[in-house]
Amino acid sequence: MSEEPTAYEHPDRNIAMELVRATEAAAIRAVPWIGRGDKNGADKAAVDAMRTFLGTVSLDGTIVIGEGEKDEAPMLFNGEAVGNGRGPQCDIAVDPIDGTTLTASGRPNAISVIAVSDRGTMFNPVDAFYMDKIVAGPEGVGVVSLDQSIGDNIKELAQAKGKHISEMVVAILDRPRHEELIEQVRAAGAGTRLMRDGDVAGGINAARWESRVDMCAGTGGTPEGVITACAIKTLGGVMEGRLNPQSDLENKNVLAAGHDLDRILRLDDLVSSDNTFFVATGVTDGELLDGVRRKGPFIRTESLVLRSKTGTARRVIAEHQAAKWLEADAAHA
Ligand code: FBP
Repeated sequence: MSEEPTAYEHPDRNIAMELVRATEAAAIRAVPWIGRGDKNGADKAAVDAMRTFLGTVSLDGTIVIGEGEKDEAPMLFNGEAVGNGRGPQCDIAVDPIDGTTLTASGRPNAISVIAVSDRGTMFNPVDAFYMDKIVAGPEGVGVVSLDQSIGDNIKELAQAKGKHISEMVVAILDRPRHEELIEQVRAAGAGTRLMRDGDVAGGINAARWESRVDMCAGTGGTPEGVITACAIKTLGGVMEGRLNPQSDLENKNVLAAGHDLDRILRLDDLVSSDNTFFVATGVTDGELLDGVRRKGPFIRTESLVLRSKTGTARRVIAEHQAAKWLEADAAHA
C-alpha cells in the first residue's frame, strides 16, 4: 500500500479557489459594457479588474498567454509577472473576456477565464493565432482525433457514448471557413450547435457530462485552445490541436518561429503538467454559466473552478455587495 497521503488526508492549496475572485471581478467590471458596442472598453474594464485581483494571489506567475495581440485589444501582456511574487512558479493564461464581441453586442456566452499550470508547461503559441481543434469528453479518449475525418469521429464517439448519430451535437464557430466542416457534420447525420464566438465555453461544454454538446470542432484561437486544454485536464476528456494560420503573414511568422504545421498537438503537448487550475465566470448568460446578475443589494456571479490534480469541478455562486462595488467606482472616479 502506498505511504503517500491522499488529497483527502493531506489537503493542499487549490489556487483556483483564490483565482476565482479575479474572474468574478473581471466579469462584474465588464457588466456596464454589455450591449454598448465597445468591445475594447469591455475588455479593458475586465483586464484592469483581473490584473488588480491577480496581484493579491500568492504565486510567482508569468503570463504565457495574454489575450489581445490578435486584434490589439488592451491586454495582460505576454511575459508580464502576476501574483504577489511569493509561492509556486506558474505559467498563466488569461482571457479576461472570451467573447468581447458577444459582450459588446449583448449576446450570450461571454465568459472571463484564467488557467494556471506549473512553470514551463504550457504550449507557447508565439505568433500562431489560429489552430484546428477537436474536443470531447472522457468517452472520446482514444476514440476522437484530428487524425481521422469528422464523420468517423462522430460515428465512433456516438458508439462510445451509446448514442444514435442523430442525437450527436457538434459545436462549431459560425464562420465562412467552416462551411465545409458544417456540411460534413450534417452529412454524417449529426446536428450542429453554431457559436457566434467563445470556443473556450464550446470546448468545455463538449467535455461536460451535463451538456447537450458532444464535441467541439473547427478552427479558433490558439491561446483559447491552450486555455481549454487546461480545463480538459480536469474534466478527463480529449483535446487536440493543429496550427492553422489564416493569413500569409501569420503563416510566415509561424514558420519563422519554428512551428510545425503538420504536427498534431495532443493534450499533453498543449499543457504538459498534470497540475493545472482553471476558473471561468459568466459575463453574459450562457449554456456553461449564468452571467452576472444584479438582484436587489447583491451582484450574483456563477463560476466554474477546476483542479486537475484531484479532478474536482466546482460551481461557485457568489453574492457580492453591490454597494461596495459602487463605492469602489466612486473612489476611483
Ligand atoms: P475574443 O473575445 O478575444 O474576440 O475571442 C472570441 C473568439 O470567438 C474565441 O473564442 C475564438 O477562439 C476566436 O475568437 C476565433 O477567432 P475569429 O473570431 O477570428 O474567428
